[in-house]
Amino acid sequence: MGRVTKSLKMVTHKTTMGFIFIITYMCFLAPVHQAHPQSATISDLSIKNMDFAMNLYRKISSYHDKNIFFSPLSISTSFAALSMATDGVTHKEILKGLNLQQLERADQPEFIPTLFQLLHENITQNGMLKLDQGMALFMDPQFEVEKIFTDQIKTFFDAEIKSVNFTNTKESLSFINEYISNKTEDKVTEMISDLDPVTQLMLINTIFFQGAWQKTFNPNFTENAPFYINNYNIKQVPMMFLEDKFYMMEDVSLGAKVLKLPYQAGVSMLILLPNKGTDYTVIDDDITARKFLSWIRGLEKTKLEVNMPKFKMEESYSLHNILPHMGMDSIFSNSANLTKLSKEGGLKVSEVLHKAVIEVDETGTTAAAATATGIIPYSLPRTFTVNRPFFFFIYHEDTNCLLFMGRVIDPTKN
Ligand SMILES: *[C@@H]1O[C@H](CO)[C@@H](O)[C@H](O)[C@H]1NC(C)=O
Ligand SMILES: *[C@@H]1O[C@H](CO)[C@@H](O)[C@H](O)[C@H]1NC(C)=O
Ligand SMILES: *[C@@H]1O[C@H](CO)[C@@H](O)[C@H](O)[C@H]1NC(C)=O
Ligand SMILES: *[C@@H]1O[C@H](CO)[C@@H](O)[C@H](O)[C@H]1NC(C)=O
Ligand SMILES: *[C@@H]1O[C@H](CO)[C@@H](O)[C@H](O)[C@H]1NC(C)=O
Repeated sequence: MGRVTKSLKMVTHKTTMGFIFIITYMCFLAPVHQAHPQSATISDLSIKNMDFAMNLYRKISSYHDKNIFFSPLSISTSFAALSMATDGVTHKEILKGLNLQQLERADQPEFIPTLFQLLHENITQNGMLKLDQGMALFMDPQFEVEKIFTDQIKTFFDAEIKSVNFTNTKESLSFINEYISNKTEDKVTEMISDLDPVTQLMLINTIFFQGAWQKTFNPNFTENAPFYINNYNIKQVPMMFLEDKFYMMEDVSLGAKVLKLPYQAGVSMLILLPNKGTDYTVIDDDITARKFLSWIRGLEKTKLEVNMPKFKMEESYSLHNILPHMGMDSIFSNSANLTKLSKEGGLKVSEVLHKAVIEVDETGTTAAAATATGIIPYSLPRTFTVNRPFFFFIYHEDTNCLLFMGRVIDPTKN
């Protein structure tokens, strides 16, 4: 009750900023001695990417029951760019693994890259959205890259090509780390700590997202509250509070509730909260693009009291260990067909590292968003209390493009 009265008095809020950044890097080694439908749209691409994301999520989830956070868009984009370097079996495997084989046009090899380009343009068109995506290819000056590939990744992915002499390990390292630091506004300063001197090429993709909630949480109402990791493990977490009108829905068959928390500029966070007593691992198997779209369609506006933990996560994934289990294995093996990257044989991808960071809290700039409610409601609003493991999806609303996806088991772990 205390919180209800307090919320009626508030007139100004602090803007809640959530920032997120993602880096995917791929390292190519040249081992020295060892060896459709007719008119697909960017919405089709988004749906395909979403199912890829859910498949990848399930793979990661099968290894552990900890927090998960990654950028499906960043991974799909990196591999779509990489696919242009490949041929034969390797090419087929990547498109299948990315769930894009249905969008392939045998007579139009640039069809999928063009869709990625259009999707990226659509998402970033709104100048208010702070989403910086950058891709760079670092390559050894001795190494001859096919001009067509260089031109293609420049055209479709706006990728920069940087010359790095990998033999000088220390200088290469500091150059690449400085590049990443520049691209992430100094949020990631030491991305790489070592470098294999036989590296010939490195592909790096970064995504940086900074979003301010449309309806901001008042930090004065944030207080510690229990979060039930499971029946035996309860932690105190800083719980944010906000009372307003929100879009939510209940997925009865799944045993979960869905809440939309909009950011400014056409991006939203969708929270999927399993009901008390519903095991989140059961829900793992049921998350699909179709389900996701049905949640969005089913959302209804309602007055709610939202209690939501502040959290911060930093996750890293060695995708070269995960993607082979999703059918993409030849690119990491000696049978990699990277002939469109270079005529020189014996090239393979040695490492794909994906690093993702998210912070959801109420520090940030000040904004005046006045919500003046003068009447104490007779019936108290419903509550949406995120005090047990939950899933979240950050997506671009016009295109349904999934920018980020995560699962919070323990908000105090990062
Ligand atoms: C939070 O509380 C302080 C002290 O009571 C007050 O000055 C400030 O305006 C409050 N902030 C908001 C956003 O309500
Ligand atoms: C790569 O794939 C193309 C097309 O299938 C094939 O012609 C070529 O021989 C392959 N090269 C290697 C090195 O596997
Ligand atoms: C790379 O650096 C090594 C060691 O400093 C040097 O010997 C080599 O010539 C350099 N390669 C190029 C292409 O500049
Ligand atoms: C990083 O940014 C600084 C300042 O803009 C610039 O001088 C430097 O060349 C950049 N470094 C890299 C590796 O891009
Ligand atoms: C972005 O894509 C969506 C879905 O295809 C479309 O409705 C919208 O008009 C596009 N926006 C712009 C500005 O092109």
